[in-house]
Amino acid sequence: MFYLTTAIDYTNGSPHIGHAYEKVLADVITRYRRLRGDEAFFLTGVDQHGQKVQQTAEKEGVSPETFVRRTTRKFIDLWEKLGVQYDGWAETTDQRHKDCVQAILSMLKDQGHLYKSAHSGHYSVRQEQFLSDRDRDASGNFGPEWGEVVVIEEENWYFKLSEHTTWLTGYLEATPDAVLPAFRKAELLNALERNSGTDLCISRPKERLHWGIELPFDPDYVTYVWFDALINYVSFAGYLATPDAGLPDFSRLWTTDERPVHILGKDILVPAHGIYWLCMLHAMGFSNEDMPRLLVHGWWNIRGEKMSKSIGNSVDPNELADTFGVAALRYYLVRDIVTGKDSDFDVERLVMLYNTELANELGNLCNRALNMSQRFTGGVLQRGGAFTEDDLALQTSLTLATAAYRNAMDEFDVAKGLEALGRHVVHCNGYTERMKPWELNKNPEKKDRLASVLYHLTESVAHATVLLSPVLPHAAIQLAAQLNLPSLVHLKLSDLRWGLLPNGHHIGIPMPVFPKIVLDAVTENPKS
Ligand code: ME8
Ligand code: MG
Repeated sequence: MFYLTTAIDYTNGSPHIGHAYEKVLADVITRYRRLRGDEAFFLTGVDQHGQKVQQTAEKEGVSPETFVRRTTRKFIDLWEKLGVQYDGWAETTDQRHKDCVQAILSMLKDQGHLYKSAHSGHYSVRQEQFLSDRDRDASGNFGPEWGEVVVIEEENWYFKLSEHTTWLTGYLEATPDAVLPAFRKAELLNALERNSGTDLCISRPKERLHWGIELPFDPDYVTYVWFDALINYVSFAGYLATPDAGLPDFSRLWTTDERPVHILGKDILVPAHGIYWLCMLHAMGFSNEDMPRLLVHGWWNIRGEKMSKSIGNSVDPNELADTFGVAALRYYLVRDIVTGKDSDFDVERLVMLYNTELANELGNLCNRALNMSQRFTGGVLQRGGAFTEDDLALQTSLTLATAAYRNAMDEFDVAKGLEALGRHVVHCNGYTERMKPWELNKNPEKKDRLASVLYHLTESVAHATVLLSPVLPHAAIQLAAQLNLPSLVHLKLSDLRWGLLPNGHHIGIPMPVFPKIVLDAVTENPKS
């Protein structure tokens, strides 16, 4: 089983383009794995506890419950709009999740992994964590990234993180795919070398924070939000759950033959996922073979700058989808960034890539293949035979593009996969220019040749429909309908061979699937 999760989004605000990217990426990868013939399960959700949520709710004069219900709705609505199709939905206020967190806490305490101790120190309200001298900047101060820093003296519960860091270093060094891409693993190992001696404070006194999961063995405390949130990856996979809980069977999801993949952004690798989470799992008794793979993606920036509420440069995915369409947004989000690296979000590039690669190249191929087949051969396809050199070159181009697509997608590199598909589409359009079916149509003796050329183009559309389907599932359904072969969208990668369209096949009525975005019309009325 291919079990994929994403980071769960904080519900102290509205979804932004970074959230949308991560969920679309996970959706594309899941759909691709199904296309590959794998069984797949995609879990995502929202992170509803913690100080930030409590504070924002207070500021807005509502209970945290009400506040969280409202913001959670925005995420659910957006995923529905963008066609992000998940199999499991994680909300950390879900009673089943709370039960799991408490069961894990009790288990860890019974096994001696937790202890209570008093600590006085600097505390960042914004980051919800105690700071150490390592967090000071060159001039000895705590920088603005920490927000308000206060001195607190209090007793808390700690997880003996330091007892697992030697194991963690060894595990990371011995496991090539523990963290992807590889340069992120190097970053994590560096951080580990600097930080291996400290334990993790996993509680917050209720007088300071009540919006969290109560410690089962000390009711004056709630669980630290990260310790709570990370557990979603196992709680919603059915870990320690009763069969009637309506959750998956954990032993079927979390397997060693295809270890789970967690998708997360670069900011939460160190220390949350790379250190806390892997050590938590190790303390819970998970073996090296059971450890999830961490797929770390980069960030979308705005003109080279970090997106942030305070700068006010954050991009609203809802507005983009309304203005340019879901297909253009989904395509852009996985096309213009290399998985692992950062990219600049640029609406002009969104429009340019959609217009060039979808409206012009692929759209053109579809229109020509289908329209000319309707007009010149009455919509009936003839496979033909006696392939010319041009025909064979086209078939080779398709074979190479499909192999390159597959390799790239297997490595989670969607941009590269789409580039491979795009190369074949460009090849087809060049072939059309050279073969000039409109000329062949004027000569009754070239009837067979004309049919063969049109077959090559239409068959290429059929393959493109399948390869495009993880990224643009809706467009794939439309194309399959126009080809009059709706079953295309149920094919697997291994079904792809020359001749998907049977001899004598009748195609359907062509309709443009990728209408060109006209910028003037859009900028005049950007919110329409
Ligand atoms: O960190 N570009 O939530 P979050 C790309 N609740 N990705 C971005 C991004 C950007 N500009 N900004 C944020 C949290 N992200 C925790 C996670 S997991 C148990 C708990 C990504 O809402 C970010 O890297 O701040 C993270 O993976 C996800 O969005 C949620 O961020
Ligand atoms: Mg964040």
